[in-house]
Amino acid sequence: MSERGQERIFAACAPGLEPTLSRELLGLGLDARPVPGGAEADGADATALACLGSRAADAVKVRLWEGPAGGIASARRDLARRFPGVELEARPAGERSTLSADAAGSPLFKRGWRARVGAAPLRESLAAGLLLELGFDGSRPLLDPMCGSGTIAIEAALLAARRAPGLGRSFAFEAWPGHDAARTTAVRDRLAALSRTPPSPVLASDRNGGAVRLAGKNAEAAGVVPFVRIERRDAGDVEPPPGPGDCLVNPPYGIRLDREVEESWKALGSLLSRLPGWTVGVLAGDAAVARMLPGNPARAIEVQNGGIRCRFLVYTP
Ligand SMILES: C[S@@+](CC[C@H](N)C(=O)[O-])C[C@H]1O[C@@H](n2cnc3c(N)ncnc32)[C@H](O)[C@@H]1O
Repeated sequence: MSERGQERIFAACAPGLEPTLSRELLGLGLDARPVPGGAEADGADATALACLGSRAADAVKVRLWEGPAGGIASARRDLARRFPGVELEARPAGERSTLSADAAGSPLFKRGWRARVGAAPLRESLAAGLLLELGFDGSRPLLDPMCGSGTIAIEAALLAARRAPGLGRSFAFEAWPGHDAARTTAVRDRLAALSRTPPSPVLASDRNGGAVRLAGKNAEAAGVVPFVRIERRDAGDVEPPPGPGDCLVNPPYGIRLDREVEESWKALGSLLSRLPGWTVGVLAGDAAVARMLPGNPARAIEVQNGGIRCRFLVYTP
């Protein structure tokens, strides 16, 4: 870390979302590029900006040294003196090596709003990353007709409200020796000043009453109740709000095995045909399910959801 606050970081994300994360870091004012497993970024206060402001990142590592492989032992000794107690991660990169440290300290997807873990919730960072990949910016209505614990709807409301995800948290780097607290406070203030009332509604529903109650509790803990409407409803009966808007949904997986799951996909298919002009993102665990939906996806990307290979299908019905 230099005296002018110029820093180089590596931010990790769900595999498949590297370009999305890189674009998000660019939007935060950093010079970023996708690399396998995440994005590298340079810039003033890169560590604070990524920890406080990135929704798609799961972790942020700050590069404390980069040099020829032969120099790593002395660099380690030097850094151990400057950053006592900070664990260093060594990484060979061809002829060169790097020493980095975990700047966040705990996973960034733990935003602090989840009341209890529902069945198969999406990671907050993955939900946010998929919203960004879909192009959601809060200016159009957002619909999640299979909301489960509400992850997508809550992350959408936070994004639409431009509320930086890390504002209410502290991070490991803030306790490091030599940390410039005034600079981090300035970053916090800058990000906090972006908050707004979302211009469009976020609508979430699920056929399961327990899921709807849990989503409500989570929305309350996240402070987004005024911006989100959560209802108990079958996806096939959802009345879309005046659009066009964005729809992001994470239906149940396991189509080949389960008749009930097949019914869920049929209900989603019937809803899709009532969303002309919308942009619809579907996180599918099985490529075969695409056949249950009307039309072909305009694009598809491979993403990993908790180690499971999934396809993110984007429809423009
Ligand atoms: C994989 S979970 C969604 C998890 C959610 N993204 C989260 O983070 O908690 C799938 C959800 O779809 C709901 N579901 C399945 N079929 C449905 C249908 N026909 N209509 C509405 N909800 C349905 C289930 O009740 C379940 O909550």
